[in-house]
Amino acid sequence: MPIEFKQVSHEYSPNTPFAYKALNEIDLELAEGKITAIVGATGSGKTTIVQHLNALLLPTQGEIVVVDKTIKSTEKPKNLKALRKQVGLVFQFPEYQLFEETILKDVAFGPKNFGVSEEDAQEKAKEALKMVGLDETFYERSPLDLSGGQKRRVAIAGILAMDPQVLVLDEPTAGLDPQGAKQMMGLFEMLNKKHGKTILVVTHDMEHVLDYCDEVVVVERGKIAMHVSKEEFFEDASLMVKANINPPAIIRMRTMLQEKGFAIPNTVLSLEALVKALKKGVA
Ligand SMILES: Nc1ncnc2c1ncn2[C@@H]1O[C@H](COP(=O)(O)OP(=O)(O)OP(=O)(O)O)[C@@H](O)[C@H]1O
Ligand SMILES: [Mg+2]
Repeated sequence: MPIEFKQVSHEYSPNTPFAYKALNEIDLELAEGKITAIVGATGSGKTTIVQHLNALLLPTQGEIVVVDKTIKSTEKPKNLKALRKQVGLVFQFPEYQLFEETILKDVAFGPKNFGVSEEDAQEKAKEALKMVGLDETFYERSPLDLSGGQKRRVAIAGILAMDPQVLVLDEPTAGLDPQGAKQMMGLFEMLNKKHGKTILVVTHDMEHVLDYCDEVVVVERGKIAMHVSKEEFFEDASLMVKANINPPAIIRMRTMLQEKGFAIPNTVLSLEALVKALKKGVA
């Protein structure tokens, strides 16, 4: 299921004094069946990019090909509903995404909207809520009475209940505690490995990129500054410096040890590998 941006620009509020070009002629091809991280400074254009994937935003120039549909500046794809079933987008601020009076209804809304029976939609909603770690005590509560992290889980469940082939998550772990964040990333990994979902995740958490993602896209001032494999990105510390990114702890430790004269290869990307390399050096 290929996703391709071709020379895509996006200008907010065009032809007004507030016009702002947030994306500037970007080309980007996203790998099917992988977990791709989208990283970059605040305001670089990450959210703007991902909101094009289900035609929430339309390009002001260029086009985006998603599966068998093309999104252009002047036209929404003919079958917007089908596109949104294929590509599930979880917003950066999930509270904008919740509107039903109970959590169960909110999560069941998507499948119902796509023609699934009331009963089946509820079943799907219950399954999805379980996946994100919310039990039956949440079913009848109002989504508005939840904490930020819980709202995020409900919004993610609402998308999972539709079973999209492509999952787009805009900072899905913001507002979760470290344990909850890990569980959430583990869930995406499972959906990718077991169910073959293509996953795109916008994140500021480099530890998550290292632990869970296959590819890294760096966005810089409305341009794609880099698109490399996770290994390539973390093996070459200079790429992180160039991208103005603070490396994960293990990479900082590797660099520090290398600077102190330890023979640690750049292929070391985990604690286990680091210990092994150190042991080898001592032996
Ligand atoms: N509705 C809007 N109208 C005008 N400008 C906007 C609008 N939304 C975003 N922008 C501008 O476009 C640029 C890119 O914003 P975007 O939200 O895509 O950044 P981001 O990389 O997702 O940042 P963050 O990490 O803070 O979420 C920013 O300079 C922002 O101020
Ligand atoms: Mg954003």
